[in-house]
Amino acid sequence: MEKELTKIQEEALSAINSANSLANLNDVKVKYLGKKGLLTAMLRNMGKVEPQDRPRIGQLVNTARRQIEFVLEEKYNLLKQNELNSRLNSEHIDVTLPGRRHTLGHLHPLTLTLQKITNIFKSMGYSIAEGPQIETDYYNFEALNLPPDHPARDMQDSFYITKDILMRTQTSPVQARTMQAHNPDEPIRIIAPGRVYRRDDYDATHSPMFTQVEGLCIDKDISFADLKGTLIFAMQELFGKDVKLRFRPSFFPFTEPSAEVDISCVMCHGKGCRVCKETGWLEILGAGMVHPKVLEMSGYDPEKSSGFAFGMGVERIAMLTYGINDLRLFFENDSRFLSQF
Ligand code: DAH
Repeated sequence: MEKELTKIQEEALSAINSANSLANLNDVKVKYLGKKGLLTAMLRNMGKVEPQDRPRIGQLVNTARRQIEFVLEEKYNLLKQNELNSRLNSEHIDVTLPGRRHTLGHLHPLTLTLQKITNIFKSMGYSIAEGPQIETDYYNFEALNLPPDHPARDMQDSFYITKDILMRTQTSPVQARTMQAHNPDEPIRIIAPGRVYRRDDYDATHSPMFTQVEGLCIDKDISFADLKGTLIFAMQELFGKDVKLRFRPSFFPFTEPSAEVDISCVMCHGKGCRVCKETGWLEILGAGMVHPKVLEMSGYDPEKSSGFAFGMGVERIAMLTYGINDLRLFFENDSRFLSQF
């Protein structure tokens, strides 16, 4: 019995010694100390030992067990430490590598242009009004003096959702919406920026979706001179003090008189170049005095109130500001383009 114990003890110690992994070590532990382990079996076999030898043998077995447990624990700590060291070696971080940068986004050139325009009008006391992009036929056309069979609808007859609901073709419906939401005795000064939709081709200067800024000023005794003064100031703020404006007679159903407004070419300063097609002028917006019928339809008395309105295309202004020759670049979201602003 004693010899057997010594043999098991030596075997166990050398097995622990040569264990080279935690799994390996656990196998050794089970083999000697487990429920069915060799040392456990010896304790269980105590009955076969002579009664007078039992205390001594029992003590020997327990001492052997404690020794094995102690050595096991030491080896366990060693293997654990080795494992940690090898992980630390293989997973090390090179702190001298440059960090991963977060690339900062920034505002889209159209947003920047819109902000510029809105800030100029805010400085003149205008506030911002908004209307829905899905609009009723009534606001998009009728309330702007474009009855159902009006030929001027043809240019804009576009994306209908039902017979009476369409994607708005212009920001002008915000004019009627604003007037109807106001007390006719109080003045209005608003600009309405937003997206509009038309059945246009998609080429370098057209897109079926684009951005407009509408303006509306209503008060007592507003004249064409006020319209001119306002637009000259705004365009000079946008394009520089040297820019000149030209008002050409035109037609819009919701203004009378109406004008198409040109600015002197920002590329050649009026000398004539490719951008202005050798004319020296660039068409930039439509404007006019609010038509008496439009005032009336939204509850204003044209004898008491008068006003002017204008509408401009934001993409065109951004193209001229930044010297961009293809409008599609605004919508392609190519970061090589966008990062330039
Ligand atoms: N809504 C017109 C368009 O999209 C632009 C316009 C012209 C707006 C004259 C106006 C205006 O307010 O007075 O072509």
